[in-house]
Amino acid sequence: MRIAVIGLGYVGSVAGACLAELGHDVTFVEVNAVKVEQLNAGFSPVVEAGLPELIRNGCDAGRIRATDDLGEAVTAADVSLICVGTPTGPTGDVHLQDLEKVAAQIGHALAGRPGWQLVVLTSTVPPGTTEGLVVPILERESGKVCGVDFGVAFSPEFLREGAAVPDFRQPEMTVLGASDPTAMAAVRELYGAFGGRVFETSIPAAETVKLAANAWHALKVTFANEMGRFCSSEGVDSRAVMTLLQQDRKLNVSAAYLNPGYAFGGSCLPKDLRTLTYRARVHGVELPVLENVLRSNRAQVEFALAKIERYGGHRVAVLGLAFKHGTDDLRESPILELVERLLGKGHEVAVHDESVSVPRLVGANREHALRAIPHIACLLQPEVSDVLIGADVVVIGQGNPAYRDVVDRLVPGQRLLDLSGVAAGSRDGHPEYEGLSW
Ligand SMILES: NC(=O)c1ccc[n+]([C@@H]2O[C@H](COP(=O)([O-])OP(=O)(O)OC[C@H]3O[C@@H](n4cnc5c(N)ncnc54)[C@H](O)[C@@H]3O)[C@@H](O)[C@H]2O)c1
Repeated sequence: MRIAVIGLGYVGSVAGACLAELGHDVTFVEVNAVKVEQLNAGFSPVVEAGLPELIRNGCDAGRIRATDDLGEAVTAADVSLICVGTPTGPTGDVHLQDLEKVAAQIGHALAGRPGWQLVVLTSTVPPGTTEGLVVPILERESGKVCGVDFGVAFSPEFLREGAAVPDFRQPEMTVLGASDPTAMAAVRELYGAFGGRVFETSIPAAETVKLAANAWHALKVTFANEMGRFCSSEGVDSRAVMTLLQQDRKLNVSAAYLNPGYAFGGSCLPKDLRTLTYRARVHGVELPVLENVLRSNRAQVEFALAKIERYGGHRVAVLGLAFKHGTDDLRESPILELVERLLGKGHEVAVHDESVSVPRLVGANREHALRAIPHIACLLQPEVSDVLIGADVVVIGQGNPAYRDVVDRLVPGQRLLDLSGVAAGSRDGHPEYEGLSW
C-alpha cells in the first residue's frame, strides 16, 4: 500500500519505518523542516533502538521519503495514518489543534482525489474525538461521506519508547475500531500483518482503551511505589513483599477484579486498607492513592444510589445483601449500606439473599447487620419472586448466578439496575436493563 504517515515523531517514525519494512511505500508528512531533511538524508529524527537501520534500509530501498506537502502525499496514498501529537495543557485539557488542522488538510486533499481512501487515527485522543471531531472535519472539507467515499479507523498505539520498534513489530495486541466494514477490513489488513491478537471494537472503545491502559500502568507504578514507602517505614523489604505479591496469578496479577461493578466490602478489604493507611500516617508516610481508595469506594455507592433515585420509583427490590454471593458476611457490605440509605430516603425495600438468615447470624456479623438495619429480618424474603412483586426498581447487588435471567421475570414498567454485571448478557433487547456503568 502507499501510506502517508502524518507526524514524524516517536509514533509516526516507528510506525512508518516498520510499515516500510513490510514492503509498503511510506511518505512521511511533517511540518518541521529539520525532521524532513534528516529523514530524506536517511537519518532517524528520534532516538530509538533499531530505528536508524530501518529508516536507512527503507530510504535505500526507495520505500521511505518525507515531505512537508500533505496534500500531495495524501492524494497519492491508499492510507493516511495520523500520528500528530495531542499534548495536554496545564489544566489537563487536551490540545487537538494539530489534529484538527491535519484532518482539514486531509479532507481538502480527499476532495480533489478520486476513489476511496482509508484514514487511520493513531494519536491518543479523548473518547468521541474520531467520530465527533475528525469525521465531521473530513466530511466538511472533502464534501464526501464517511463510510461511503472514504473510511475512518482508530487504532491506539501501545508502543513504549525505548522498545518501540520491537513493540510495533510484535504487538501484544492490536485494537481496531472502524467507521464501516470496508474500513475495518482495510485496517485489519494493514495491522494484522504484524501478528499478535487483533481485537475489533467500536471507535470510542478503541480510543478509551488507550487512556485506560496508560492510567492502569501509572496506577501500578504508583501502587508499587506507595507499597515501597510503606514497607520502608515498617522496616520491611519492599522488593521481597512485591515479588511475593506477584506470584499469585489468580487474584493479584490477573484479570481478577478488573471489571467495573459495584463497591468492594466485606470483613477484610476495607479493614486492612485502614490498617495500612493508619500505620503509614503514624510513621508520617504519605500514601495519597491508597488513602483515597475507600473514598473512591464510597463514591461508587453514591453513584449506584443516584441511579436508583433517578428512576423515581418508591419500591425497590434488592437481590443480594452480603458483600459477595455465597456468604452471609454482612460486615461492611456495600449492599447493606445501599439498603440502609434507600430506607433512609423513604423507599420501601424488599431483599432476597439465599445465604442470609437473620436468626443464624452470630457475633460481630449479627451486631453489624442489626446496628445498620434493626428490622432487617422483616425485609428479607425467601424467594426472588416474592421481592419482585410490586417493585418499581429491581437492583442486582451481587453476582449470584440465580439473578442472571431475572430480566425475564420483570413485569412491564419495572426497571432493572445491575450493580454486579451478572445479568449483563441481558443487555441487548431489554431496554429495562441497565448496568451500573455499562
Ligand atoms: N510517544 C509515545 O511513546 C506514544 C505511544 C503511544 C501513543 N502516543 C500518542 O501518539 C501521538 C504522537 O505521539 P509522539 O510522541 O509521536 O508525538 P511527537 O510530538 O513526537 O510527534 C508529533 C509530530 O507531528 C508533527 N506535526 C504536528 N502538526 C503537524 C501537521 N499539521 N502536519 C504534519 N506534521 C505535524 C510534529 O511536528 C511532530 O514532529 C500522541 O497522541 C501520543 O499521545 C505516543
